[in-house]
Amino acid sequence: MPSHTTPCIVVLSCLLLLLSLSQCQGLLSPTFYNKTCPNALNIIRTGVNQAVSRERRMAASLIRLHFHDCFVQGCDASILLDETPTMESEKTALPNLGSARGYEVIDDIKHELETSCPGIVSCADVLSVAARDASVAVGGPSWTVKLGRRDSTKANHTIAETLPGPFDNLDTLISSFANKGLYARDLVALSGAHTIGQAQCFLFRDRIYDNGTDIDAGFASTRRRQCPKNTGNGQLAPLDVVTPNSFDNNYYKNLLQKKGLLQSDQVLFSGEGTHSIVLEYARSPQLFEADFASAMIKMSEIQPLTGQNGIIRKVCGAALHSSI
Ligand code: HEM
Repeated sequence: MPSHTTPCIVVLSCLLLLLSLSQCQGLLSPTFYNKTCPNALNIIRTGVNQAVSRERRMAASLIRLHFHDCFVQGCDASILLDETPTMESEKTALPNLGSARGYEVIDDIKHELETSCPGIVSCADVLSVAARDASVAVGGPSWTVKLGRRDSTKANHTIAETLPGPFDNLDTLISSFANKGLYARDLVALSGAHTIGQAQCFLFRDRIYDNGTDIDAGFASTRRRQCPKNTGNGQLAPLDVVTPNSFDNNYYKNLLQKKGLLQSDQVLFSGEGTHSIVLEYARSPQLFEADFASAMIKMSEIQPLTGQNGIIRKVCGAALHSSI
């Protein structure tokens, strides 16, 4: 081989490496819609703020919707697809059925976006920005959302059935987050979203009736009043018993007092690997907010569809292209 070809090969390999790196990571950008839909972020924020001022709990529901989207084949808005004769939806999977909320808020925002700039903004990006705006709307942290996710054409009901559940033990929780590239610290920070929102009685009934040592007796007895042993499956209780409507670190302080509502909340404090992280967040609201924001960014970048992959849906509930 002539000696002058060696540097050329090295330069070429470097260029190819850079290209593949940028294809893996660099396609999401905070300015993705600046030219194509400059008003996109305002439209989403206005829609979220209106929805949260109508019903404060909606902030919680929107944050959870993003989580349940990203954990099932990545942040691709697959959770929003309606059932078709040939495709089971994620909406009807047990963790979502009668539980996930906020679909209509996202649909309305998407409708506004299609009026302003048809075929440009993905439903997956709407979910991600809405989760951030929902946090801000209830006093939580803000963060920069990178944009450019595209929407899937398919939902995955089977994976949605495996979303983390309230009866999971700590090892199971840690490994389901690890499967998505999230560490135990991310698990603890993200679970802090339970500083707002509500849960249905049948999801915490066992915990408040089993007279275990991992629950405060007074707290269990208060919760039993609205969650009878044999009825009232859908009766709601706040996930954060102290400040259910504001985004703060009381969720962690509650865990210290054995007042976590779900078993999957309380195990974060009783388990070895996460105990000290709960303590850190209970002591420092600033640290919690900073870590929550970083973990939300990580979660919102799980396996996005970018470039030529996926589509921009016309409406979020159906896999129809908005543009050709
Ligand atoms: C660690 C594993 C998790 C488990 C087992 C879990 C489980 C649950 C359950 C059972 C509910 C109540 C649902 C109902 O009653 O219908 C709930 C509510 C909620 N979850 Fe989680 N969750 C987890 C992690 C997360 C994460 C990572 C987030 C977001 C970053 C999140 C955000 C929320 C919010 C905000 C609510 C209240 C929703 C509302 O009021 O509409 N959760 N979660």
